[in-house]
Amino acid sequence: MMGRVLGQLALLAEVWALKVFGREWLHYITSNTMNVVTTRLAPFFWTYECQAKVIGVRHETHDAITIELLPNQHFSQASAGQYIELEVVINGQVHSRCYSLSHLGQQSVAITVKRKQGGLVSSWLFDHARRGMALSVSRPQGSFVYQGQQKLLMISAGSGITPCYALANEVLAEKPSADVAMIVQFKTDRDVIFSSGLQRLAQLCRVQIALSQSAGAVKNDVIACLEWSPELLERDIYLCGPAGFMDKVVAYLTSKSYNLARLQVERFSFDNYALTGEQALSEIYFQAHNATVHMTEADRGKTLLEIAETHGIELEHGCRTGMCGSCKCHLVHGEVSGNQLGIAVYPCTAYPASIKLVIG
Ligand code: FES
Repeated sequence: MMGRVLGQLALLAEVWALKVFGREWLHYITSNTMNVVTTRLAPFFWTYECQAKVIGVRHETHDAITIELLPNQHFSQASAGQYIELEVVINGQVHSRCYSLSHLGQQSVAITVKRKQGGLVSSWLFDHARRGMALSVSRPQGSFVYQGQQKLLMISAGSGITPCYALANEVLAEKPSADVAMIVQFKTDRDVIFSSGLQRLAQLCRVQIALSQSAGAVKNDVIACLEWSPELLERDIYLCGPAGFMDKVVAYLTSKSYNLARLQVERFSFDNYALTGEQALSEIYFQAHNATVHMTEADRGKTLLEIAETHGIELEHGCRTGMCGSCKCHLVHGEVSGNQLGIAVYPCTAYPASIKLVIG
């Protein structure tokens, strides 16, 4: 009991300190006063680790919660559409998962977690996240961010709504003249995340909610909504959802001759993109580096990123696991296997699959 009261008092003091001093000053103060006493007395600030305290938990649906987080001074400015990697200790073992930011406040950020069947971390967060709990987090990462376009369409399914919801809120707050439309797909009306937030957004932009497994007359899906989007080809599209959903949308967009270079994608979950089948010994031209690689036997089984690195070509990259999007390139000619969506290729988790390959 006493411990809980002290924990809540510490949290109030931490909220106050961040508000009054700001992250830059706190960084300066703590880094100049780091010692055994301060690290014991106030470990949230007197640490070199990026951490966040849970300051609120809100139920969105029967299986989705929003966790509001107050990060310490090691956190950096986040943009809507980015994600953080979060670590939890379950039965003595550290597990990490990436979650998109669903809300960005002055001092706090929020993630929205959907409990997955058999999902170790999502279930643990669902059952254990409480105000005052400290979590290890990464700084914000990812390139699924607003790029200043005027006409946008956000397409998402399930918890893939989180980065799109944050983006729509940010765009409409910062550039009210932007023409934003959203299509969000859920299974049934019980599964609609941010329902009141979506109602509020519907007063500022066009919001269509597709219920793919609804028993009622309103059953439809994202493709049916896209059929009713006459300005589709004029809009820059931001897409996030499960792999099958994204493939379906990309196939539809391709059939409509949509320019896939205008499509921004964020992967909703991590897929293990293992090499399948025999890998070609390709000749790969990396257009942006004006460099050609002739693969050798030693390159077999390697990803495009590893092949480039082996041959002295430095491709931009981040996570190396297909999550952050920072290695994204375009397929100009040939075929790849693994992590590919439309013409977008993620070399960290994609493999050459044709004799000649041009990566733009
Ligand atoms: S998606 Fe992160 S490096 Fe490729």
